[in-house]
Amino acid sequence: MEYKGFSFSASLLGLALFLFLLHTSYGDVTYSVLEELKRGSVVGNIAKDLGLDAKRLMYRKARLDVQGSSKRYCEINLNTGDMVIAEIIDREQLCGRRISCTLKYEMVLENPLELHNIILQVQDINDNSPLFGEDIVTFDIRESAVKGARFSVNPAHDADIGLNAVQSYTLQRNDHFILAVHTNPGSEKYGELVLDTELDREQKQEVTLILTAVDGGTPQRSGTVVIHVTVLDANDNKPVFSENVYKVSVPENAPLGSLVVTVTAIDADEGANGEVTYGFGPISEELNQLFSLDPKTGDIRIAGQMDFEDESIHELRIKAKDGSGLTSFAKIFIEITDVNDNAPVISLKSLTNPIPENVLPGREVGIINVLDKDSGGNRQVRCFIQQNVPFKLNPSIKNYYSLITTSELDREIISDYNITITATDEGSPPLSSSKTIHLSLSDVNDNPPVFEEQSYSAYVTENNKPGSSVCSVTARDPDWRQNGTVVYSLLPSDVGGVPVSSFLSINGDTGVIHTVKSFDYEQFRNFKVHVVARDNGSPPLSSNVTVSVFITDENDNSPQILYPAPAGNSLMTEMVPKAALTGSLVSKVIAVDADSGQNAWLSYHIVKSTDPGLFTIGLHSGEIRAQRDISESDSMNQNLVISVKDNGQPSLSTTCDVYLLISDNLAEVPELKDMAYEDSSKLTSYLIIALVSVSTFFLTFIILILAVRFCHSRKPRMMFDGAVAI
Ligand SMILES: *[C@@H]1O[C@H](CO)[C@@H](O)[C@H](O)[C@H]1NC(C)=O
Ligand SMILES: *[C@@H]1O[C@H](CO)[C@@H](O)[C@H](O)[C@H]1NC(C)=O
Ligand SMILES: *[C@@H]1O[C@H](CO)[C@@H](O)[C@H](O)[C@H]1NC(C)=O
Repeated sequence: MEYKGFSFSASLLGLALFLFLLHTSYGDVTYSVLEELKRGSVVGNIAKDLGLDAKRLMYRKARLDVQGSSKRYCEINLNTGDMVIAEIIDREQLCGRRISCTLKYEMVLENPLELHNIILQVQDINDNSPLFGEDIVTFDIRESAVKGARFSVNPAHDADIGLNAVQSYTLQRNDHFILAVHTNPGSEKYGELVLDTELDREQKQEVTLILTAVDGGTPQRSGTVVIHVTVLDANDNKPVFSENVYKVSVPENAPLGSLVVTVTAIDADEGANGEVTYGFGPISEELNQLFSLDPKTGDIRIAGQMDFEDESIHELRIKAKDGSGLTSFAKIFIEITDVNDNAPVISLKSLTNPIPENVLPGREVGIINVLDKDSGGNRQVRCFIQQNVPFKLNPSIKNYYSLITTSELDREIISDYNITITATDEGSPPLSSSKTIHLSLSDVNDNPPVFEEQSYSAYVTENNKPGSSVCSVTARDPDWRQNGTVVYSLLPSDVGGVPVSSFLSINGDTGVIHTVKSFDYEQFRNFKVHVVARDNGSPPLSSNVTVSVFITDENDNSPQILYPAPAGNSLMTEMVPKAALTGSLVSKVIAVDADSGQNAWLSYHIVKSTDPGLFTIGLHSGEIRAQRDISESDSMNQNLVISVKDNGQPSLSTTCDVYLLISDNLAEVPELKDMAYEDSSKLTSYLIIALVSVSTFFLTFIILILAVRFCHSRKPRMMFDGAVAI
């Protein structure tokens, strides 16, 4: 019989052949024969051993009967009497594990019948190697198995027996196991793996060992089996974070849901033992709302609004847990980086409002504070006023600014300011904010009332009604309320020694000037008053203006005849020479009018005469001239009635009588006397003449003085024309 890998060489067998004659009792022969001999190998010479004649074997029809076996294995060579192997004997097939393996034959001879027992003892040879039941033995050993743990390996079988069977085992040198060899009750040897060094699945997931079983034959045979140890996981590993401390930075304006960091923890274990879930360690409610952690992926994301200005660094503890509850921790420092997300905030710390308009330039009127919650450059703030206003910001301590005036202010020009303060930080892009400060100026009585005109003129017609208004003055004061309320009054003064208040009065509120009494142009023609406008400030301011009052004339005076004396009052006779020629001046009527202008422009007319046509009168000169030569036939006494009229509307007039005596001789005066007064003496006539002469001289003198006065008058005016020297 052939086993895998084994064959016997015939020559070896031939040499090894050896016959062993045990004993021949009862004519029986026992042979010991090695198994596996080649066909034809001689086991023994039966004829010789049984004492038979080999030559007669044929004749006696010698044959071998086999007891109880289908196979014969041996034959007799009838020629030689040798018993030879006819079929290769395989002890193992024949006898298995029995120690004694015999084949029993009966040799039958005829003539005479003879029966011999022939026993063939089949000896084992080491023709089988130890053989393990399987090619691969597998063990699943949990890595938590402790030192000394035993794992028995099914014994190896060797079909051979005795020494040729398995004698020992050897285990290939390895890191973990040693071998213990035991003998089981069936005296079979088996090996046991003893754990000598503990296993670590995470280091080595499987261990391959080669176990060799050796028998005791010569030559020795061996069989091996591969022992495959699969190291089973035990939850002996905590999850391990890739870093103990994670440091990340996130801009504060990172949108919700954006990834901050992904933490990773690796658990060397397998399956559920190696399945890591993440969670936060002890965490404040606030942080819990700020960050979310995906338990599966370890993604930490932003879940709430972060604010650098609240907290610039967050510390989180995270936990990694495997399926059976082993945990480990790591820290995450999340640094929030500043983003320019805060505009500067301008706050008004103090403000003087309103400020008096007379503050000096450089005066501090307010204090402003500017705060930017960002950091670094995002916090640097520039502060300025954009408008063109007389204010500026002066940096003061830290982020304080003083608002100061830069020039003089005038409430009457600009009464309030909207000051817009803009603060811009230096972030990119910069943020800015502005604040408008409303500042008003309070009034100071710094403006006196100012009259609308430099001076005023008022014209009043004489004989006016007392109380009539003459003119009105107006002064303006731009100041506020009582500081700008104007009250008018007359400055006390005299007009020709009379207080002005007896002529005029002024309405303190309206500035309307009234007359107090009736004026007479002929008394005075103009005068000046000063009107004062005063405000109600404290102290008050005032200014004054001159009002010139001109009184205009009214024709309220009739002409007055100065020469000749009015009729009836005196007797005046003018001497006219008898030889007076045409055009010669014989007399002159002198009249005055207290009025002026047209009202005083006099004209003369002869309304009645003794001899009309003899004399004429100059219309405006009042000169009486001869209209023709005087002749002897003319009456000696001539009488003229002269009317003097002014040019007013309506005009006024006066009349007078002029007596003319045509004579060359004073001797004729009595006639004159007779003519004038019926019974007056000569002496009286002389006295009258002397008186007339003196009066004429005196009147001429007065007229001259009047003429001089009128010449100095501003407005050229019609004067009475009677300034003629007589
Ligand atoms: C200031 O602002 C107020 C309100 O916005 C406005 O009524 C006022 O006219 C402004 N004054 C000036 C001087 O611009
Ligand atoms: C008038 O001016 C004075 C200072 O000259 C000031 O004290 C006062 O408040 C002003 N009055 C008003 C109504 O503004
Ligand atoms: C009137 O005004 C003038 C200047 O305008 C001033 O010099 C004078 O003192 C004033 N008179 C009075 C009484 O206020």
